[in-house]
Amino acid sequence: PANKKLLVLPGDGIGPEVMREVLRVIDWLDRRRKVTFDLEEGLVGGAAIDAEGAPISDATLAKARAADAVLFGSVGGPKWDGLPFEKRPELGILRLRKELGLFANLRPAIVLDALADASSLKKELVRGLDIMIVRESTGGIYFGEPRGIETMPDGRRRGVDTEVYTEDEIARVARIAFELARKRGNKLCSVDKANVMQSGRLWRAVVGEIGRSEFPEVELTHMYADNCAMQLASRPKQFDVIVASNLFGDLLSDLAAALTGSLGMLPSATLGAPDSAGRRHALYEPVHGSAPDIAGKGIANPCAQILSFAMLLRWSFGLEEEARLVERAVERVLAGGLRTADIMQPGMARVGTTVMGEAVVRELEKLAA
Ligand code: NAD
Ligand code: IPM
Ligand code: MN
Repeated sequence: PANKKLLVLPGDGIGPEVMREVLRVIDWLDRRRKVTFDLEEGLVGGAAIDAEGAPISDATLAKARAADAVLFGSVGGPKWDGLPFEKRPELGILRLRKELGLFANLRPAIVLDALADASSLKKELVRGLDIMIVRESTGGIYFGEPRGIETMPDGRRRGVDTEVYTEDEIARVARIAFELARKRGNKLCSVDKANVMQSGRLWRAVVGEIGRSEFPEVELTHMYADNCAMQLASRPKQFDVIVASNLFGDLLSDLAAALTGSLGMLPSATLGAPDSAGRRHALYEPVHGSAPDIAGKGIANPCAQILSFAMLLRWSFGLEEEARLVERAVERVLAGGLRTADIMQPGMARVGTTVMGEAVVRELEKLAA
């Protein structure tokens, strides 16, 4: 069926560079597997600000809503850092998440055998690591009101952000995390600061209630977010699935990236609630940003973007076999010794973005032969 509607939003910085390599994979699937997408491209972030005057236009948002899935690159960069808050490129991704109701951001962190030496931790601590961070992504301090910089009566300024969670927001992301845990190692660790935050107290209570009433077979633990950061950096293999608020999940997933070797390796899927027909909005994006420090040099690692596309194949289209093909192709390229600069190790061959992408397609070709 040729009606898989995909909206591709490359964005800024290395976004378009790594997206080009996914397009190669999409082209291969079309030619060799008869898996065909109805592709449309749009602007987001700084690119959209420059061309359309806003970090995401209403027209692009409408296209995202109409698509079966959105493949997102990354947004932001020094060129737009001086803009007023409401005009910043980052608002592009925040609006997409919020307006499409994409509340569950799944961020797997897997240490591939070939990259165990590239980890920030000793090999013994990370070999075989496979964790899933479920980050709440439409609530919490990212969206809570009141927020802003205001001037107080004495003329001095104060900055305000508000962490708010309703019990329904906590329950729905908790259910996603419990369901994932049930399919994996049956262990869920819920992260909060229930010792200092009211929203954290509610978070812990609600996750506990959902666990007891709906998922009694899943082993649930609670951990304070600061301790979780320390535990991830010292004994990461104790974790299976982690569920956390928007902000804590953001921080912990960048930390998890360091364990796997590089931010350039980590994909993610951001899912909404299924409708009555079982269809859900979904957006796929690497955990990393636009990497202004290496943009334009052709050296960015395209693996996170390619692996995000593999998640898209699995989660939005049920194409498990194709998803695994893409994941295995990436693994084999790395096992074969090719490395972008971010995961470079002694004795390996250093390559740029394009050579890496081409190598993935070559491995796909071999795997499918
Ligand atoms: P970043 O993730 O862009 O980069 C952090 C570091 O990781 C940099 O040293 C970068 O070179 C490296 N890196 C990231 N991706 C890489 C890849 N694929 N290959 C090799 N190295 C890679 O984070 P930052 O520098 O804090 O932010 C830069 C801009 O990106 C900011 O404007 C920020 O707001 C934005 N950002 C956007 C997203 C998104 O679009 N989802 C995510 C994070 C940050
Ligand atoms: C991410 C990014 C975004 C976030 C920014 C760019 C808004 O850091 O996707 O992890 O904080 O959610
Ligand atoms: Mn982040």
